[in-house]
Amino acid sequence: MDLFEYQARDLFESYGVPVLPGIIADTPEEVRAAAEKLGGVVVVKAQVKVGGRGKAGGVKVAKTPEDAEEAAKAILGLDIKGHTVKRVMVAGGARIKEEYYFSVLLDRANRSYLSLSSYEGGMEIEELAVERPEALARIEIDPLVGIDLAKATEIAIAAKFPAEVVDRVAPVFVKLYEVYTGEDATLVEVNPLVLTEEGDIVALDGKVSLDENAEFRHPNHEALVDTGSEDPLEAKAKKLGLNYVKLDGEVGVIGNGAGLVMSTLDVVSYAGENFGGVKPANFLDIGGGASAEVMANGLDVILGDSQVKSVFVNVFGGITSCDAVANGIVGALKTLGDTASKPLVVRLDGNKVEEGRAILAEYDHPLVSLADTMDDGAAKAAELASK
Ligand SMILES: Nc1ncnc2c1ncn2[C@@H]1O[C@H](COP(=O)(O)OP(=O)(O)OP(=O)(O)O)[C@@H](O)[C@H]1O
Ligand SMILES: [Mg+2]
Repeated sequence: MDLFEYQARDLFESYGVPVLPGIIADTPEEVRAAAEKLGGVVVVKAQVKVGGRGKAGGVKVAKTPEDAEEAAKAILGLDIKGHTVKRVMVAGGARIKEEYYFSVLLDRANRSYLSLSSYEGGMEIEELAVERPEALARIEIDPLVGIDLAKATEIAIAAKFPAEVVDRVAPVFVKLYEVYTGEDATLVEVNPLVLTEEGDIVALDGKVSLDENAEFRHPNHEALVDTGSEDPLEAKAKKLGLNYVKLDGEVGVIGNGAGLVMSTLDVVSYAGENFGGVKPANFLDIGGGASAEVMANGLDVILGDSQVKSVFVNVFGGITSCDAVANGIVGALKTLGDTASKPLVVRLDGNKVEEGRAILAEYDHPLVSLADTMDDGAAKAAELASK
């Protein structure tokens, strides 16, 4: 989960990383009030989860509360790379002397952590990495040791910070690493980290991604979720504990096992080409132990998608036997009653396939049809969706 800048700022502050005051505002009036409260020069900053806000006109300096209000009028509602600005942060204005770059991230390829840093911050780091790779220090971090003051000093020297600045930034690197491990982040990036005219080191912008697999360790992370921009079906599925991803097509897909579901998406897309280009409407992996409850929840979410015209249930019985899945489907249809209003194509194979098919044949629901193979099922579901 990526955080907004203001959320990163708050986390930084709680770990003792030097930041400037910041106040969240949703309207120009609130921005004006925030600027009055902060006093002096402020910076009005678009809060969107995408880079390059400054270049897109989403970061504006304001010398007076009136200026701040005007800046807010220009920024609120702005479209930055497909993200509409609904909220801004009014931040204290820094008198910047120098801009630096620092990040620490999960390096999956090397099964380790990696720190990237540069004395030449400010510009886009992707650009710097291409144009002046020698200015960007890449230092591997041993997760068992982390970034202590010695490591932080090594990083700062590798990033070509002059000696008098090394001692100033190194403790900040240590604190940023504490945010990284303390919050189970996969990325903590500060661009720019600045030296002010007053001689202070301050994190002026923060980007933090949290590892959702570690959510259970951080009950406080739930409050950071941006519920306003979450897809309502995905939010519902998440509450029900389902592995569901909303897609843009018409054929609802339910399967067991991520691999099978992914190949089902491919097969449905392929079959859909013969029926006016219908496409899968979602990814839904019900995993092992497909109980009636899980099946009902899955169908309920899929049928709640108004784009869905048909549903393809594709199950390969392994540990989960086909009779359990068939009972799950029957139970789900009973639970859903009239809510189940779209045709269901079911393909069962593997463990106890005969028993499973017999259960569905006997139930003989008008919306359910059986398919012998995955290809047949996909074609049938695609055809039904195209009608
Ligand atoms: N509080 C502040 N005081 C003074 N100047 C600021 C402040 N915040 C940002 N700036 C200036 O604006 C520039 C861009 O700000 P920032 O890094 O927050 O946005 P960005 O880099 O455009 O966005 P992103 O990091 O999402 O790509 C900074 O490099 C800095 O020069
Ligand atoms: Mg930035």
